Parts: sequence; C-alpha cells; structure tokens
Amino acid sequence: MAKKILVLPGDGIGPEIVAEAVKVLGALTGPDWPEPVVDEALIGGAAIDAAGGPLPEETLERARAADAILLGAVGGPRWDDVETARRPEKGLLGLRAGLGLFANLRPAILYPQLADASTLKSPVVNGLDILIVRELTGGIYFGEPRGMRTRDDGEREAFNTLVYGESEIERIARVAMQAARGRRRRVCSVDKANVLEATAFWREVVTRVGQEFPDVELSHMYVDNAAMQLVKDPKQFDVLVTTNMFGDILSDQAAMLTGSIGMLPSASLNTRGQGLYEPIHGSAPDIAGQGVANPLATILSLAMMLRHSLGAPALADRIESAVGAVLEQGLRTADIVSPGTQKVGTAEMGDAVAAAL
Ligand code: IPM
Ligand code: MG
Repeated sequence: MAKKILVLPGDGIGPEIVAEAVKVLGALTGPDWPEPVVDEALIGGAAIDAAGGPLPEETLERARAADAILLGAVGGPRWDDVETARRPEKGLLGLRAGLGLFANLRPAILYPQLADASTLKSPVVNGLDILIVRELTGGIYFGEPRGMRTRDDGEREAFNTLVYGESEIERIARVAMQAARGRRRRVCSVDKANVLEATAFWREVVTRVGQEFPDVELSHMYVDNAAMQLVKDPKQFDVLVTTNMFGDILSDQAAMLTGSIGMLPSASLNTRGQGLYEPIHGSAPDIAGQGVANPLATILSLAMMLRHSLGAPALADRIESAVGAVLEQGLRTADIVSPGTQKVGTAEMGDAVAAAL
C-alpha cells in the first residue's frame, strides 16, 4: 500500500521550504519506490487564522493516520500577543505529544564545502559529525503543575515543573545507545545532576540502561560544561543524549558549528515508527515570502523520512548525495554564501537538488 505523507507547511518561510522538499520528493524514482500519497493540513499561526487554534483536531487526526509528517516551521511576530496556551508553537508541541514523538534526532554534520561558513576555525569543525538525541515529549516542556498564581502577599509568580518518569528516560537512552551502534559507539549523556534531582535521576537511569550496551562507551557531562565543550572541541562527541530543554538549546548551538542552522534536519519518532520530520530552524519571519530561505534542511529532513519511516534508505542516500553535489557545484543560499560561490534563491536550490538526483 502506498505510504501516506502529511505535509504541514506552517508559517513564515515554512511554505516556501516545504514546497522545495515536495519538489524533490516528486523527482524521486526507483524500482522499489511506491509513490507516496501526499496530503496537506494546517498548523501553527496559519491554523490559528484559518481554524481558530494552532492544532485543529482534523490536522491531528490526519497526522495520526499518516506514515510520516513533513513540517516547515511555526510561529511569527503576528501571533506574539496570543496567550501561551494557544500560540503557534503549541501546535507543534501538541503534535509531538499527541503522536508520542519522544525521540528527536538532530544530526549536526559539517559539509566539507561549508567549512568556511562556520564562525569557528576550520580545524575545530572540519569533519564534524555529531548526533543530538533530544527527549521530546517530557521534561519541563510538558511537566505539571505549570502556570501562574498570586501568593498570599499579592506577589504574582509563574512556575514550571521539570519531571521525568523512569520509563521516559529508559526509552530515550535506548534510542541513543542504538544510534551509537550505527556510528562511533560513544554516548555522552548531558544533565545537571549536581543541582537538579530530576536530572540526577536521569543520570542514574541512563547509567543503568548503558549497562545493556557494553559495546557502547557511555559518559556524562553537566550541561554548562557541554555547552562549553561544544564550541571548544565539538569533535570529541559522537552521540549526545539529553532532556527536552537542554536538547533544544544545545541543538541550536551545535547547528551553528556547521555554519548555518539552515542546513540541519531532524526526525521525531514514536514507538510505532511514525515520524515527524522538520528542519531545526524556525519560521524566520524576517525573510519569509522573499524566496531566499535555505530549503536544504527541509530537503535533508525528507531524506531522514525516507530512511526512518518509509523504508527507502537508498533514496535517502541519493538525496543526501544530491545535496552534496549542489554544494560542490558552488550553489549557495544567502545564509551560506561565501566569496567564490554562487548565490541562489529557495526555488533554484530546490531545482538544483531535484536535477542532481
Ligand atoms: C525546536 C523549536 C521548538 C522547541 C519550538 C518552536 C516550540 O525551538 O524544535 O527546537 O522549543 O522545541
Ligand atoms: Mg529549538
């Protein structure tokens, strides 16, 4: 049966970059390639405007029925004044929670052609290939209680809860360990075990799970040190596994090691093999609608989809090679342009990748 892909363009540059990934999808052919059925739905600010909320029930239902979801980005200044509970971002968080997409894989790979685009010196980042495994449906993002209240003395306060259940930590630790087996067999778990009980527990559980994987070297690092090590000597890392919040922060940082956040894809998986695939960058409202955004992170997210949810690893490889080929040709969107390369727009970049397939 044909696989079902649900496309959620979202806000800002979302529709532009998703269109290029759909273009690349349409250019794929192959003997074992049953063309997927591609459907589209609303999320984020676009859904607030058209349907009154960031995650319409219909979108969630169609997402549940899909094999894989391709998302652009959500959010923008237009919805800045919307209350927290109904913001565009809640659409994405609701989708992650609603589908149980607990395992977020965020690879940070430096393409050799982009070594000059990094703000770090090239010996520090050359050959960089790390994978951040971020827990995505727990921790402080979802912990209860949360909210605002007024103390007896009239002082208002706001609060969130950092909480992890043992099974939540176990399953994300296993994902990291398994991923390491396909790589350099090293996992560094990032926590703040010296201060936060929830992450001391995280360390305890990850350590226990680590014993099931004697062939994988497990280490632990406090998050402040990890942030420092990531810019000092990022190549010491293979797989990093961490909580929802720390993973959010460290993955943006890791992205910049590669020169542009516009290059990095992500996969968010559940236990049923369903996945949500999205670039790790946001909706970039400042450049939306101008046709200048970098579509490569979304195109590379499509490759991850083919590998993790659609059972087509060979086609995933082809997309990744095609991206390498267009970089080799010297084509660059504005975010990664450097002297001696050729600046192209969003659609030209998508065309070039489709042609290189
Ligand atoms: C990300 C984003 C999201 C997050 C936002 C848009 C809710 O920053 O995917 O990293 O915080 O998880
Ligand atoms: Mg983020």
